[in-house]
Amino acid sequence: MELFNDLVIPVGSSHLTLIRLMLYISASFLFAYTGLLFGSVFLSTRAASKAKKYNDFRYQKLAQDLIKVGTGITGMWFGLGIVPLLSFILSYPQLLAGTKGDVVGYLIVALLVFSMAVASIYVYKNSINFKSIFYSFKTNVRSKSESIVEEYHSLDEDIENTGSFTGIWGILLLLVSTWFLSGATTYAYDHSMWGQSIFTMLLSANTVFKALLILSMGVAFASAVYLFYAFSWQDGYKFANDDEKELSKKFVRKFGLYSALLIPLIYAFQIVSIPNNALSGLMFVFGLLSLLFVVFFAQSIYLTKSSEHASGVKYGFMFIMISFAMFAAQDQQAFHISIAENLNNISEIHNKAEEERQALYAKSEEEPQVDAQAIFDTRCVACHKFDTKSVGPAYNDVVPKYEGKEGDLVKFILNPTPQNPAEYPAGMPAQGLSPAEGKALAKWLLDKVLGGGEKEAEPAAEKPAEEQTATK
Ligand code: HEC
Repeated sequence: MELFNDLVIPVGSSHLTLIRLMLYISASFLFAYTGLLFGSVFLSTRAASKAKKYNDFRYQKLAQDLIKVGTGITGMWFGLGIVPLLSFILSYPQLLAGTKGDVVGYLIVALLVFSMAVASIYVYKNSINFKSIFYSFKTNVRSKSESIVEEYHSLDEDIENTGSFTGIWGILLLLVSTWFLSGATTYAYDHSMWGQSIFTMLLSANTVFKALLILSMGVAFASAVYLFYAFSWQDGYKFANDDEKELSKKFVRKFGLYSALLIPLIYAFQIVSIPNNALSGLMFVFGLLSLLFVVFFAQSIYLTKSSEHASGVKYGFMFIMISFAMFAAQDQQAFHISIAENLNNISEIHNKAEEERQALYAKSEEEPQVDAQAIFDTRCVACHKFDTKSVGPAYNDVVPKYEGKEGDLVKFILNPTPQNPAEYPAGMPAQGLSPAEGKALAKWLLDKVLGGGEKEAEPAAEKPAEEQTATK
């Protein structure tokens, strides 16, 4: 945890906006995918237990298709689950920097438990697939020899048990992970929890209702995805006959509708339990939009009752996705309002640090200018005066020709070339100056001789020179 908090750097306001955007995108994916995965396992285990109860292979096939909803695309658990969780772990501390809110621990628990849930669910998926293979094997062999069937009976039982065992574990672990995820996001905006025990976070009404909301919306989402693949997609799930198709549709529709009825209720409790310091008009707008799209979803799923409206499935799928996006926006908006002050602090700290850095930089640029006088005093004064010739020519005689040609003067000072060999046969030896020093000296000389005739600094520099000549 220390490690992640040490990664925090005070960033400017544009970076903060970027981090907030990342958090929002992560929240959308994470809420939606956690929900979808839960809905997928939940519905699949329901179908599987029905298959067992009625010994009906049609439900077995349905259980198999339903688990594909949340696990069908390779690596989706990683891209849509683990990655957003990691970005939560990296982003939240950035925005909570300087406060007492330490959200990282809860998020890490969510991440670990989520990974375990995924492992269980994939074992569940495989045992469901095996079960189906066994089933077709049994039905094919049965006619040939009863004894062979007997032999495989115990294997079949084993797989059956593994299936229901890992299915239930998958559901439980996912419940815990969602609970921590929703707790962590609530904790981030409910400042009254900071410094309190973990139970304050887990048992807060907002945590519980948010978790329930993610799960119930997930069941709605999973049913929408299933119906979409089964009825509206060319290469979707295949059915042996219309009878099986009807049965599957009815089963999934029922859960879709039930969850859609439950969602508004949970939503209301969830919104009411958001702490005052996180409330804002925009947050309510997002919340209402999210609810509105759940209603649209329910409508379009309801309409699939008659097969003419089967295309409504497509919209149901879309509506529930938008609803999830709005839900994530509502959550992030609550977080944003609650830490608006802190965000100002962070960018102020950043701006201050930036200013200091700028000032330091500017100073280091000026340094050679300040030094010009000193360099003259140590390196040039032996051979040069301003108004009288000594070993070298008087500056007042030679510098004016460099008016408007500072570059040439720099070149000469850095690398003297013979100018007046008649009078100075030995020329001027190179003084081994750095380019910055040469530049500063040239500027200083031009300024003294040409520009700053009336400048107060000049008499101070020239008088000693005059006095020196006077004493000579
Ligand atoms: C050892 C003596 C000596 C020192 C030290 C010396 N100069 Fe000179 N400087 C000369 C002589 C000699 C000339 C004339 C060279 C010529 O005309 O070829 C000269 C010429 C110049 C000129 C005129 C160039 C021109 O185009 O006529 C400038 C400007 C000048 N020096 C600047 C400096 C500066 C700045 C320093 C200190 C960093 C410096 N000099 C240090 C001996 C010196």
